[in-house]
Amino acid sequence: MNKPFDVEIERLTAPGSESIRPLLGLAQAPERGTFFLETFGCQMNDHDSEKVAGVLLARGYRQVGTPDAAGLILYNTCSIREKAAQKVFSRLGEYRAKQSEGKIIGVLGCVAQQEGEGIFERAPWVSLVCGSASYRKLPELIAQLESGNHRVTGLELDTDETFETEITRRDNPFRAYLTIIEGCDKACSYCVVPYTRGPERSRASDSILREVRQLAELGYSEVQLLGQTVNSYADPTPRKMRFAELLLAVAEVPGIRRVRFTTSHPSDFTRDIVEAMEAQPKLCEHVHLPVQSGSTKVLRAMQRTYTRDEYLGKIAMIRSARRPIAITTDIIVGFPGESEANFEQTLSLLDEVGYDSLFSFKYSPRPNTPSLKLNDVIPEEEKSRRLAVLQDKQREIQSARNKRLTGETFEVLVSGKSRRENQWSGYTSSYRLANFTSHATELLGTYVQVRVTGATPNSLVGEHVV
Ligand code: 5AD
Ligand code: SF4
Repeated sequence: MNKPFDVEIERLTAPGSESIRPLLGLAQAPERGTFFLETFGCQMNDHDSEKVAGVLLARGYRQVGTPDAAGLILYNTCSIREKAAQKVFSRLGEYRAKQSEGKIIGVLGCVAQQEGEGIFERAPWVSLVCGSASYRKLPELIAQLESGNHRVTGLELDTDETFETEITRRDNPFRAYLTIIEGCDKACSYCVVPYTRGPERSRASDSILREVRQLAELGYSEVQLLGQTVNSYADPTPRKMRFAELLLAVAEVPGIRRVRFTTSHPSDFTRDIVEAMEAQPKLCEHVHLPVQSGSTKVLRAMQRTYTRDEYLGKIAMIRSARRPIAITTDIIVGFPGESEANFEQTLSLLDEVGYDSLFSFKYSPRPNTPSLKLNDVIPEEEKSRRLAVLQDKQREIQSARNKRLTGETFEVLVSGKSRRENQWSGYTSSYRLANFTSHATELLGTYVQVRVTGATPNSLVGEHVV
């Protein structure tokens, strides 16, 4: 989805950093040391880092902005596509000298899970390796290091608990992320997530609602429920709240004005979710529904559990809603065996669906995944060509879709202020980025009406309607 690249964002202090400590009775925690946390990856990873930071802050650590100022340097990274492991090791190389200064260096996230203790061999200056399914143990692991242990790991995947913290240090002052389901039980043949994040674990509905109430009290009005397959949510409590019911319950929490959720798996996308969105305008008009390919043959090889027609059936269901709902997706090009004709089916799917935005990727073979063994590998140059063709097509589609909105007025949650005078930005309920002019003096964090006066492929341009 679009990032507000057209404007310079002015960051506010995130609720949950300094301000949350007294609220949680943490003001007295003795200062234990300082940590620097660098994150690379998806929203889930960003949010994991927010939780890790929360856990450390609650234990009396202070977060600092540079590795030089930190006693504890943590690198949280994702390995879904990139040659992430290589990237990690080059970054760790930069941290090498820091260990001799007495600093603790730790690797978290997917790469930690994947490479495990091998990290110690390649980078002996690292003393902590911990995958996302073991973050609950982080404070304990750090305590072990501080009491003289040389190397510690948290690599168990069979945890049946979710990573819940009493405090999460949230980076975004306007939208709060909240994980409702961890791990993944699907088995897409290209994907490392089931190996790096473990099996699916849903969080208790009452615990989710408790956190949403806290967030509302802290001043957040928008929450985004997160999960690799967020709509596969299965409430572990006797209440057995369905995902659609949970969405409605979250929307009803006083103070909450917008609810988003991502990422939805098409196979688990049921009609009651659309009905909930029809009934409750606080549920944002946006569904991210990754298709991955427009070819049933490729979908089968990907083990995606639906055909092109079944996917289109879900799209028709969403499009038939009484509210307009924006649809975005993820696509992988150059999966092994993807013929030119198969790729063209993906292109025709773009026309058929009319996505409002998409993330597109070249297939990247990942360790331990079943698709690693598939023959008929597509050459890199051909993958790049397909990606460029796909992106060009989508740019045209988006440009036309956005232009059609000229003259309409949307509610925008203002989250950015440009250095250019009177220029602001924010997102519509449909998750379109809107850059707009306003002569108001302060708008950050407020909801305003914006009339669209123009559009680019990635954003709307407009003016504040007072
Ligand atoms: N190669 C390319 N893209 C991938 N994704 C996941 N695994 C791979 C891979 N091995 C993409 C999918 C998924 C998104 C988060 O990343 O499109 O939806
Ligand atoms: Fe990976 Fe598929 Fe699970 Fe998504 S649904 S996290 S692509 S295995």
